[in-house]
Amino acid sequence: MSESSQRPPGFAYGPLKGSSSNVLNCEGVSLPQLADRFGTPLYVYSAEMIRERVSAFNIAFRGIEHTICYSVKANSNLSILRLLARLGCGFDVVSGGELQRVLRADRKSAKKVAFSGVGKTIPEIEAALKANILLFNVESASELEALATGAAKLKRKARIAFRVNPDVPADTHPYISTGLHKHKFGVPITEARKLYTHAASLPYLQVAGISVHIGSQITDFAPFGIAMERVADLVRQLRKDGHTIEYVDAGGGLGIDYKAHSERSFPAVAASYAREISKPLSKLHVKLLLEPGRSIIGPAGILLTRVLYRKTNGDKKFVIVDAAMNDLIRPSLYQAEHQIVPVKAGDKTPQVIDIVGPVCESGDFFARGRELPHVEEGDLLAILDAGAYGMALASNYNSRPRPAEVLVDGKSAKLIRRRETIADLLRSEL
Ligand code: LLP
Repeated sequence: MSESSQRPPGFAYGPLKGSSSNVLNCEGVSLPQLADRFGTPLYVYSAEMIRERVSAFNIAFRGIEHTICYSVKANSNLSILRLLARLGCGFDVVSGGELQRVLRADRKSAKKVAFSGVGKTIPEIEAALKANILLFNVESASELEALATGAAKLKRKARIAFRVNPDVPADTHPYISTGLHKHKFGVPITEARKLYTHAASLPYLQVAGISVHIGSQITDFAPFGIAMERVADLVRQLRKDGHTIEYVDAGGGLGIDYKAHSERSFPAVAASYAREISKPLSKLHVKLLLEPGRSIIGPAGILLTRVLYRKTNGDKKFVIVDAAMNDLIRPSLYQAEHQIVPVKAGDKTPQVIDIVGPVCESGDFFARGRELPHVEEGDLLAILDAGAYGMALASNYNSRPRPAEVLVDGKSAKLIRRRETIADLLRSEL
């Protein structure tokens, strides 16, 4: 199989024990074995790949004091959070629910949590104050008031950064671009000084940093550098104004190569991203917080699905699989093109097909007009790079229970979330 259809060291083809076939494995476990044991659709993650990518980040940023605050929204499974906490990561959360997950995974990680989001509620703010998180990324003047009130009520000091909107365009899907004034995120960078002065006057609030996040799935890194230049100017200005700026939170957004055409390995990609981010900050002696989500967990996960039926409508050929848009919505929502590969390698003639799910919408597809080796009913397919924003965005649409999740580490495969049942779906209804 070609390089681009594998994701070593997580997912690679190899001989199946006791047969002449080559199958896709996750580390030391074959995917057909996982399908037999846990059923499909199934999310499968590689622990080794997560470790490698965290380590690549740490190496890329070794020249600057930094903490990786993994973005929980990308994949919030408790076992994955626990693995990341053990690797020394902190966390970026955007809701009370995500904070609870982090605390459940590792209570001690609270001191490495940054809390972002434009609509933090009072109960969420209070929970974060009680947990004594590292940093509140404040996104409006009104939120600042709510935080000040909550902190005074609980007599807890809140370390704050304003999330500034640097007005820098990033080339990505419009739904996940965030760094322009027309977007709802952050406060205009031009109004930041006034807001910092006000924040510093409020008891129980401690000005501690600046945060920025310009969008997600960004593969041209220049905008990161431009945004960081603007942040660095603001650091200097705010220090002149007498504020202590200890942290710069650079957000997330480092994109991955869904087509896997790139010849650059992740360590090289991380290094050039790190150059863009770090250069403007050199000599400022700030502590850098990074909020990667996708670039850590995306390629470390696949969605394993089985072919239910084949059918031909006129000149269109459809392959209907047991996974659907409720399990992985990225193709339907962002026109994302995930590579899909047969689990059993072969030399079958390619065919142009649509790969679709059972949900009752024409938008329920994983690939349209794609050339793929011929697959039979009952075959397994792997939808690659599904570790980020896959399970995290899964729903129960069409009353479909959500998939199970498995974490593979070497030769061991551990169920980290059992398959939902219809009873689970009905439980909360009255
Ligand atoms: N920090 C903040 C404040 C964010 O809003 C996000 C993502 C991240 C960090 C992590 O970004 P990453 O490193 O994963 O790009 N559902 C979409 C992506 C939404 C991203 C939302 N914010 C998708 O499937 O492409």
